[in-house]
Amino acid sequence: MSSHLTILGIETSCDETAAAVVARDETGRGTILGDVVLSQLEEHSAYGGVVPEIAARAHVEALDELIGQALSRAGKTLDDVDAIAATSGPGLIGGLIVGLMTGKAIARAKGKPLYAVNHLEGHALTARLTDGLSFPYLMLLVSGGHTQLVLVRGVGDYERWGTTIDDALGEAFDKTAKLLGLPYPGGPAVERAAATGDPGRFTFPRPLVGEKRLDFSFSGLKTAVRQAAQSIEPVSEQDIADICASFQRAVSRTLKDRIGRGLERFRQTFPDVTQPALVVAGGVAANRVLRATLQELCDRNRFRFVAPPLALCTDNAAMIAWAGLERMACGLSPDDLSVSPRSRWPLDAEAAAMLGSGKRGAKA
Ligand code: KG4
Ligand code: ZN
Repeated sequence: MSSHLTILGIETSCDETAAAVVARDETGRGTILGDVVLSQLEEHSAYGGVVPEIAARAHVEALDELIGQALSRAGKTLDDVDAIAATSGPGLIGGLIVGLMTGKAIARAKGKPLYAVNHLEGHALTARLTDGLSFPYLMLLVSGGHTQLVLVRGVGDYERWGTTIDDALGEAFDKTAKLLGLPYPGGPAVERAAATGDPGRFTFPRPLVGEKRLDFSFSGLKTAVRQAAQSIEPVSEQDIADICASFQRAVSRTLKDRIGRGLERFRQTFPDVTQPALVVAGGVAANRVLRATLQELCDRNRFRFVAPPLALCTDNAAMIAWAGLERMACGLSPDDLSVSPRSRWPLDAEAAAMLGSGKRGAKA
């Protein structure tokens, strides 16, 4: 199918309620017509993390209004869209139920097809919306719930090359911040503190560095941070800055090793791909030090480094709408209205579930 298509996307898998209207033209180019995201940060920050029940309730309260806003920004009504795409996993089950049920209700009432979208597929395909990237490419997803290196071969065709065996990278930032008394979410706070710190003062562990497998592990880092802080109590502002800078250096070196191996493996797997690319997604992609590390790594390996605008790296509904459009454009069938939300839904069905990597929020 290669006609002009417009779709409404809905995202409610974690702590952002989002709706978007996206179009895809005959040539495959996408345009975001309306895109609204409501963060629940304030509702959760007092608890130092996402509280599932609060999240689900907040989605219920905001979603209808947000869908109305996305449509009006796009200058469209529900009758104008060709289909509905709603995230149906992986994520927090309460939120998924809210978004998927809303999508089903609209689909039924308006007689439109429904696409139940995998949230990770949304992240994986975003670079085709923003940069028109062609398959195959590598995607590094680093957020509060996920740390995965995925080979994106085509729509619905993914191979997970690496994943975390314990904490997600964003989770490691959040826990480090908490240990040091910095505010939630921890990533931005740690980055800010690190700017005036000495990255050479502490040597934190770089787990799995040097190993052939492409997995990640970040829980040891958090323990090392705790021990460092305890050994110099009471900690001063400068100590905190030094710990944060040293933490970021350890993460940077770890990513360099793990992703560097991923790039090598990509070259060996696809020797004929002339312009290989690494795409980054997820909230941790906001970190300037880590971005610079990845950029440098890509430059050195002659890979194109694609970092979509931050608003499309973090959770949003435009990526869900786009994933729905990609599925439609390939002629994939819409989902039956009996489809159920799935709190766990790996992109790569062949990849083994990782023990321990399911402690918080949306994971696969
Ligand atoms: O993709 P995202 O917005 O959503 C979820 O995972 O739900 O990612 C949020 C994560 C949090 O763990 C946050 O601490 C981290 O991304 N993060 C950062 C930065 N900004 C956000 N981590 C490191 N440096 C940052 N500047
Ligand atoms: Zn996400």
